[in-house]
Amino acid sequence: MADSSFIAFVSDPHLSRERPFFQFNWEILVEELSQRKPELVIVGGDVTLDGASNPSDLEFAREQLDRLPCPWLAVPGNHDIGELASSENVASRINHERRSRYIQTLGADFWSVDFEHWRIIGLNSMIFSSGLPSEAEQEAFLAQSIAGAEGRQIAVLSHIAVCCNSLSEHDSTGWFMPEPSKEMLSSYVRSGKIQLFLSGDMHQSRDRMIDGVRHVWATSTAFVTDMMEEWRPKFGGRKRVGWTELQFGKDVAVTMHEPRRMVDFDVGNWVYGGTALYYEFARGSRFPGFGSAKDTVA
Ligand SMILES: [Fe+2]
Repeated sequence: MADSSFIAFVSDPHLSRERPFFQFNWEILVEELSQRKPELVIVGGDVTLDGASNPSDLEFAREQLDRLPCPWLAVPGNHDIGELASSENVASRINHERRSRYIQTLGADFWSVDFEHWRIIGLNSMIFSSGLPSEAEQEAFLAQSIAGAEGRQIAVLSHIAVCCNSLSEHDSTGWFMPEPSKEMLSSYVRSGKIQLFLSGDMHQSRDRMIDGVRHVWATSTAFVTDMMEEWRPKFGGRKRVGWTELQFGKDVAVTMHEPRRMVDFDVGNWVYGGTALYYEFARGSRFPGFGSAKDTVA
């Protein structure tokens, strides 16, 4: 394999056939990756605008991912498969039906792939601390994948970021992994089994060493929120749309790309008062004449 071979790490494209708010940036991404020719694209979740409720978004996302110039693997985000089981909004939570729909359309929600001297393990972080049978299946899969890595270094990809500054910190923002799931992963970190965490969700790019392990956040290709950092919790990332190049050698070389032609849509005003307005736009209850999400099921 040539030295220039790389993986493109893409996240949060928030695609939709009926409401293609961010399709422009996706087109730029497809064009750029077609020229750069990655070996593989990994996707950090939220491939859809509202796939958890609208199967059409999942189907459209599949069509769009299949336009990429190489194989791809995705992990689900909250907008694809539902919120964490701890969400106050019961109707929006992850459940068996939503997970099944996702898997049917976009493939396995947890998986492992070997690249150079690394094993990348994709996890469905939306089932963390859910008690669903798939949570235990996933933990067993993780243990097997790490045990069978045969000297390869381990990278773990999830939609939700592990932590902000330290594995031992208490998260009061609700943006990071549930405590028991973070502890489950921390036990592998303590025994030196994980070298890299990759995540999406934040719509900002960040690359930081935490407790001896590298944590790389991929920004969104679609949009940022509160770019001026006036009201959202500040996590120290860079709020620009783009994609992330990963070159895996002994270490991993990380390059954030912010194509000039992509537009930094800032949807902060959609979510300033909570997510209700986002879903009114995503589901067509507001401006119903603009596209139509006919297949909405929840
Ligand atoms: Fe997102």
